[in-house]
Amino acid sequence: MKGIILAGGSGTRLSPSTDSINKHLLAVYDKPMIYYPLSILMLGGLKDIMIISTPQDLPRFEELLGDGSGLGISISYKEQANPRGIPEAFLLAEDFIGKDNVTLILGDNLFYGQGFTTLFRDALAKHKHATVFGYRVKDPERFGVVEFDHKQHVLSIEEKPENPKSDFAVTGLYIYDHRAIDFARKLSFSKRGELEITDLNKEYLKRNELDVQLLGRGFAWMDAGTHDSLFEASEFVKNIQDRQGFKVACLEEIAYYMGYITKDKLHKKGKAMEKTDYGQYLLDIASRKHTQQYWDAIEHKPMLGLVEND
Ligand code: G1P
Repeated sequence: MKGIILAGGSGTRLSPSTDSINKHLLAVYDKPMIYYPLSILMLGGLKDIMIISTPQDLPRFEELLGDGSGLGISISYKEQANPRGIPEAFLLAEDFIGKDNVTLILGDNLFYGQGFTTLFRDALAKHKHATVFGYRVKDPERFGVVEFDHKQHVLSIEEKPENPKSDFAVTGLYIYDHRAIDFARKLSFSKRGELEITDLNKEYLKRNELDVQLLGRGFAWMDAGTHDSLFEASEFVKNIQDRQGFKVACLEEIAYYMGYITKDKLHKKGKAMEKTDYGQYLLDIASRKHTQQYWDAIEHKPMLGLVEND
């Protein structure tokens, strides 16, 4: 399974904050926005990840994340010269995907909730053709909307419908087989001048091959595409972190618990940034003897097989 983070776009809704910096590099509280979607892919066990962004912004992402080896994963980069819609990612990443399956996450999407890792891992394991994640919202008309029956079979999917057939938005996390590339190639541009991910999903639905996985009321899904939503996402992360003392989307922590990096590497990274709360957090984890309670609390136990890294 390959992973793609789409982090392009012009971020005009966040101007002037984004006049000289890519939206996905802005901070959501204490870390760059892109950490959040990357953490999701890492928690799903994906290790081969491509970041797609504009030619002018890619060097900044590379500066931040390098080739991924610091996190024990592989990160490659691909230019998207003009934002032409989400499915274009599959065309740009054709060689990278090859005959593999692919998970795409939008760079400004933040998922959080007890059990998310397990749910995502299950979805990846059960995945056959195409899987989207549905989340109940108050304003479905702003999103792709998925309608399904009581057995959760998808009945319809529509992009920003005036009269939504359900309250379930399609989130910015998608799992496909490699046919996504061929389907993307055949799409035509919508009224807003983009290839639409909803049209690609319709191709799968036509073949009865579109699954929906619902995220229940205990989950938080947000995007950070406007000043208000960015601020709210920051507040959310700060509240969770302050209350529990666990960081959301701490990439080194995830890499460590996944068994990708050693305790020594984690300690070194913490030392290099020890003046920050983030650095102190890494040092704290590196000095900790894992307890069962700790593993349970971060809900990684089942997927990590209690790896002891040292
Ligand atoms: C895009 C998709 C939409 C989906 C949303 C999730 O919308 O087109 O189907 O629900 O992402 O964030 P956009 O952000 O392009 O308006």
